[in-house]
Order: sequence, then C-alpha cells, then structure tokens
Amino acid sequence: MYNETVMDHFMNPRNVGEMTDPDGVGEVGNPVCGDIMKIFLRIRDGRVEDATFMTFGCGAAIASSSMATELIRGKTLEEAWEITNTAVAGALQGLPPQKLHCSVLAEEGIHAAINDYRKKQRLEPWAETARAAHEEEAGGDAE
Ligand code: FES
Repeated sequence: MYNETVMDHFMNPRNVGEMTDPDGVGEVGNPVCGDIMKIFLRIRDGRVEDATFMTFGCGAAIASSSMATELIRGKTLEEAWEITNTAVAGALQGLPPQKLHCSVLAEEGIHAAINDYRKKQRLEPWAETARAAHEEEAGGDAE
C-alpha cells in the first residue's frame, strides 16, 4: 500500500531520537488512532539547525516524521512553519488517502515545537492562521 519513498523513510527513518537540550519540543497525537509524534528542534540564528523525532505510530506517521524533519533542517522558522502536511505527503511521493492524517501530525508537531521554542523565548505563539503577524516580526515592512 506504500510507495518506495514511504517504505524507505519507514524502514530507514532519518533523524530518529530524543535530542539533548532541545530549544523546542512539540508533542502531538491523534486521538482516533492513538499515534503520538514528538518533534525536537535546535534553533540557531532563527534557523532549524537540527530536528529529530520520536514517533509511536504507524508506518506513514514514521515516514512523515522522517521526511518532515528532513524538510525543515536548515530552514528559517518562518519557512519551517509553512511546511504543510501536503508538502510532507508530496515529498513522500504521496500517501494513501486513509493515511493522509498521519502527515497532518507532522505539520502539527512542527508547529507545536516552534511554538514551544517561542514560549521559551517569551514570544507570542504563532496562530495557525496569523501568517502576516510573523512575517512582519521577521522584518517585513508591513505597516
Ligand atoms: Fe494514525 Fe498513522 S494511523 S498517524
């Protein structure tokens, strides 16, 4: 049911493991299937220097975590925030429709980890829809 890319990230997941002294941690779960995903971030100069994960879940959740951590490494926090579940599923060359919710966990996990970092920095959390706010904060010349 899974394509080769998904199987590769499931069988040989990248960036697995708990991080020592992470700058942000996001833990999310899906109450329906019971799967849990934890994303760890190391942030330097506004960029994701390192990202790792621990996922207790299905093959698609593990593959999504692996791909998501690969996608956000080296990205600015703004860029990492914009990575959607569709982008994760696309980078995996697609997921079966009934497994798309597994990639949603990855998007939510990244958001939770970024907001955990922001909380530790005493910054306002980014809202799912308030994209303009952090663009402005990032140095845009809005208003
Ligand atoms: Fe729930 Fe995959 S079945 S995350």
